[in-house]
Amino acid sequence: MSGTEQSRAGYPAVRLRRLRRTEPLRRLVGETRLLVDDLVAPLFVADGLRQPEPVTSLPGVVQHSLDSLAADAKRLTGLGVPGAILFALPRPEDKDPTGSAALRPGGVWSSALHAVRDAVGESLVLMADVCLDEFTDHGHCGVLDPATGDVDNDATLPLYAELACLQAESGADVVAPSGMMDGQVGAIREALDSSGHGETAILAYAAKYASSLYGPFREAAGVTIAGGGHRRSYQQDPANRREALAEVALDVAEGADAVMVKPALTNLDVVAAVRARFDLPVAAYQVSGEYAMVKAAAERGWLDGAAVALEAVTAIKRAGADFVLTYFAGELADLIGG
Ligand code: PBG
Repeated sequence: MSGTEQSRAGYPAVRLRRLRRTEPLRRLVGETRLLVDDLVAPLFVADGLRQPEPVTSLPGVVQHSLDSLAADAKRLTGLGVPGAILFALPRPEDKDPTGSAALRPGGVWSSALHAVRDAVGESLVLMADVCLDEFTDHGHCGVLDPATGDVDNDATLPLYAELACLQAESGADVVAPSGMMDGQVGAIREALDSSGHGETAILAYAAKYASSLYGPFREAAGVTIAGGGHRRSYQQDPANRREALAEVALDVAEGADAVMVKPALTNLDVVAAVRARFDLPVAAYQVSGEYAMVKAAAERGWLDGAAVALEAVTAIKRAGADFVLTYFAGELADLIGG
């Protein structure tokens, strides 16, 4: 239909379509641009691995050996990706009720962080996930109260604080507590400050939902929650938004330097609300299930995986995220250029 016909039909003479006509026009009026600068790549490293192990439900993602981890960090740096978040995994036989292998001096956390730092120096923001679920034999994010079998919030805090200090000591620029224990940010800030790590920043997984989209992560991290359990007693109900703002406010008050919403695509309203209310950097985590859904459909030829990835991560940025943790980081950096 021509413009004149549209006008006759009663549409206004000014039409947004005029500015969509050519690629340079679209570039000029584009409101949101995803940059390589906005990307953080999650990386897994497993104690004792000699060769990287593919993660079946996350095509293209591996559990790294120390060597392949360092090589991947170099590759990402070469692509211009500014950040990586590390998840360290114990040998399966080293899991115990308190996740003690996480705190082992010279253990997997310290060797992995040192390996990345030695490989890439300051050219990558090195983030470390602070949690215990990878290390506990019951798969919960904290230690359990022997009387009730529930996660013991307050008994978990000193372990998080100790882990964060070990990570800072080993070269992490940013520690990212993901266990959703009340008071975790404050406990970690205090411990970092009193052990000479005042410069180490905290990225709080502030609004973290009890989501079914973490399924593939649990394969990647070798985590099974005992008895087919769940995390609904400490992670948030996906039905709630105001509660997310309360969570973020607490983490900001406790000293978070940046806050995160997770998962991303199912919580874009939360990302926008957090962006509007708080002036700290806001991150969003496009989680394992978000990645796996795209990959699985793309493998079947049902959609264009790279295009959907770009669209989704751009939308996450449009909602208000300053940076995005995504398993697509390398692919997107390749696609959009550094
Ligand atoms: C906890 C943690 C999880 C994720 C990041 N940190 C799993 C969970 O809460 O069960 C999920 C990330 C993803 O799904 O990509 N250590």
